[in-house]
Amino acid sequence: MESFKVGIVGCGTVGGGVVKLLLENAKVIERRIGKKVEIAFVADKEIEKVKRLGIPEEKIFDDGFKALSKECDVVVELIGGTTIAKEIILKAIEKGRHVVTANKALLAESGEELFKKARERGVSLKFEASVGGGIPVIKALREGLSGNRIKRIYGIINGTANYILTEMTEKGVDFETALKKAQELGYAEADPTLDVEGFDAAHKIAILSTLSFGRWVRTENVFVRGIREITPLDIELAAEFGYRVKLLAISKVVDGKLEVRVHPTMIPEEHILSSVNGVFNACLIEGDFVGETLYYGMGAGERPTASAVVADIVDIAMGNTYDVPEELFSDDEKLEIKAPDDF
Ligand code: HSE
Repeated sequence: MESFKVGIVGCGTVGGGVVKLLLENAKVIERRIGKKVEIAFVADKEIEKVKRLGIPEEKIFDDGFKALSKECDVVVELIGGTTIAKEIILKAIEKGRHVVTANKALLAESGEELFKKARERGVSLKFEASVGGGIPVIKALREGLSGNRIKRIYGIINGTANYILTEMTEKGVDFETALKKAQELGYAEADPTLDVEGFDAAHKIAILSTLSFGRWVRTENVFVRGIREITPLDIELAAEFGYRVKLLAISKVVDGKLEVRVHPTMIPEEHILSSVNGVFNACLIEGDFVGETLYYGMGAGERPTASAVVADIVDIAMGNTYDVPEELFSDDEKLEIKAPDDF
């Protein structure tokens, strides 16, 4: 049976989950696609930790760049951050490898450059795990809703912030205690200010907006306000008037301009998004023909995020290597974006 070789760079929470999934569900995947998906190498500074996952020593590297000299079909970048991760991806593309990443910050910042390079080299750059953890929301936009003009997106797309707000609402715990717990559970970013100050959600809504509205949307185009200043009293008062406080990411066209924003929002208790609690994420996407659609599931954590990463690997193994269209790189007839300062 043909085998498809995967190199993993970065074996933290998500990388570890990907290794576990590929080993545990090897047979399931093999039966589904008629190919063996094999781990060619895993690169991480903590070699012992990788060994404990069941990876033989000869496949473990303590340096991602060295690891790239080993043969593989796809490189999975899971180290995060926007510096070394970018170099790893560029190197992998240069070597003609497909790439899978969960790195929303990098895509929101340098997506244009990376997708251009991948397109020029004829390889695929996939990123399902960058938004919504285990929810296949990127696939929904690129496949299921591809015939629709997207009218609006409302997303609860930061699991950490939603977890914190839920704990504060339901258990009355303070902000710091809830954040600490979210970190222990592996939901938060290495730098949790990205979660609580709204920038992680901004990276994600920038990606969803780019896919939906036919132009590059970057983090600097997004109006951002986080949840750090939300107090238990705000939450209590909102509840008295029948609302739940959520960190909402919004993208929609208003008066011919695209508005992209992330901020705490009072959602009426009877609205479906108000019942999205804990680490769960949800995206409400409205298309002109389909109407409203809703995607819901675990928005962070080892197993759900690994599930999304592996979905991309399997896609590429099956030859599904479509990518961002050439048109996205041109500046013609682009929808104007409302400046964040104008909010
Ligand atoms: N820190 C992110 C979150 C991880 O809490 O949503 C998943 O992208």
